[in-house]
Amino acid sequence: MTPPGLAGRVLLGAGELSQIVAGFGAAISSDHPDGVVVVGILKGSVCLVADLAREISVPCAVDFLALSAYGSGGRRIRVSKDLDADVAGRSVVIAVDIVDSGLTVSYVRRLLNERGARSADVCALLGRRSRRLLPVELRYVGLEIDDEYVVGYGLDLEERYRNLPMLVSIDPPQRAEIEMHEDEEQARV
Ligand code: IMP
Ligand code: MG
Repeated sequence: MTPPGLAGRVLLGAGELSQIVAGFGAAISSDHPDGVVVVGILKGSVCLVADLAREISVPCAVDFLALSAYGSGGRRIRVSKDLDADVAGRSVVIAVDIVDSGLTVSYVRRLLNERGARSADVCALLGRRSRRLLPVELRYVGLEIDDEYVVGYGLDLEERYRNLPMLVSIDPPQRAEIEMHEDEEQARV
């Protein structure tokens, strides 16, 4: 059941999310026995990072990066909250809610490579390949979705619904409204 007042369908329930994130944690731990720095991209990754960190059994540091979009169509990205960690020589896992155009994750990978990270793998809860503008390799991905707008478990619609314990795919009319709004406002990513 979706929360009252929110029309849509449950894409992944809390139990399914836990299973996916446990799978991420096991795979990351086995791929990086020396340990990892999990870099969460704010704000959409907050639930993922909190749960993922607890599923990682190798040494694990957690840090966050916030980005904002600007310029025509919001196509340019800048750092609005930088990392505290020095990533040089370390294995980094970029934790992100959803990879859509791929611009955000490509930007972050380039930044981490420039800073000398040993590796920078992407762990995405969701992927939406149909809207990709830049090719990105998603080493860990929960679910590939199509052209539907998703809220919950960190993902928002105008800052609402991040706190839902499940992922809800909402009705297209609500998505059309938010996209028009985002074009006008050049919203944060
Ligand atoms: P991109 O891959 O750079 O286009 O941007 C991805 C970001 O856009 C994500 O980190 C989300 O913050 C946001 N986003 C894209 N699709 C959705 C969605 O369906 N629901 C909520 N946020 C979304
Ligand atoms: Mg958002």
